[in-house]
Amino acid sequence: EVFQDLSGLSSKEKKLAQLLGIEKVIIVPGDVDVDESIKQHLGNEAALFLMNIAKKENAVAITGGSTIASLTKFLSPTKTLNTLTFVAARGSFGNEMNLQANTLVSQFASQCGADFRTLYLPENLSAAAYATMSEEPVVKEVLDMYEQIDIVIHGIGTAKDMANRRHSSEEILHLLHEKNAIGEAFGYYFDEFGEVIYRINTIGIQLNQVKNSPHIIAVAGGSMKAKAIQAYFKMAAKQTTLITDEGAANEILQSS
Ligand code: BG6
Repeated sequence: EVFQDLSGLSSKEKKLAQLLGIEKVIIVPGDVDVDESIKQHLGNEAALFLMNIAKKENAVAITGGSTIASLTKFLSPTKTLNTLTFVAARGSFGNEMNLQANTLVSQFASQCGADFRTLYLPENLSAAAYATMSEEPVVKEVLDMYEQIDIVIHGIGTAKDMANRRHSSEEILHLLHEKNAIGEAFGYYFDEFGEVIYRINTIGIQLNQVKNSPHIIAVAGGSMKAKAIQAYFKMAAKQTTLITDEGAANEILQSS
C-alpha cells in the first residue's frame, strides 16, 4: 500500500493551512533563497492553479514582483484563459520596468491570448490632481474594475526589501522601522500582527477590494520571507490560497 507521501509535503501543506487559517496551501520543494530556480516552480504551480480556477471572462488582478513574473512562461492560450482580462493591481512605481504589474499584465495577456488593462499615473499626486485623474475614462475604467475582480494574484515581500526597492525616503524608512513593519503586499506594509501601518502613495487595488474577490492567490517563497508571510495571513482573507516553498514553510512551522 504505497499511499505514503514521500516528501512529507502534503502533510506540511495541511499543517500550514491550519496554522494560517486558510483552506489551501501548496508547497514546492526547495528554498528560493538558496536556489533562485525554485521561483520557476512557484510560478508553475501558480499558473496551474490559475488554470484550474479561472472561469470564462474573469477579471484577474495581478501585482508586480519577480515571483509573479515567474508565472509568465507557464501560461498558455486555453479556451478559458484566452477570455480573461488581466488588470494591473497597482500603478507604476520605481524603475524596475520589467517587474511592474503594468508590464506583467501585457506579458500574461500575450501568453494567453487574453486582454489586459494598465494603470499609468505619476506617484505622489496632490489630492486635487488625483481627483481629476481618477475621472479620466482610461483611469476610471480600471478603478471601476477593481470593484469586480474575480481572481487576485499577488506577491508578498519583506518590508525592508520592498522599501529599499522603492527607494523610499528616510522619513518612510524611519516610520516603517519605528512601527516594526515586517511585510508588504500590494503596497500595504504591515507589522507582525497583520496591522496595516503604512500604504504607499500610488493608486491601486484597495485591501477591501482584494478581500471581496472570490479567489486570491498569494505566491511567495524563501525562508527570509517566512515572517512576512505569517504576518500577512493575520490580515488576509480566508479564501486566499498560499503557494510557497519548503524554505518558508519549514521556517513558519518551526517557529510556531
Ligand atoms: C510587488 C508586489 O510587486 O512584489 C508586492 O506589489 C510584493 O505585493 C512584491 O511584496 C514581492 O516581490 P518579489 O520580487 O519578492 O516577488
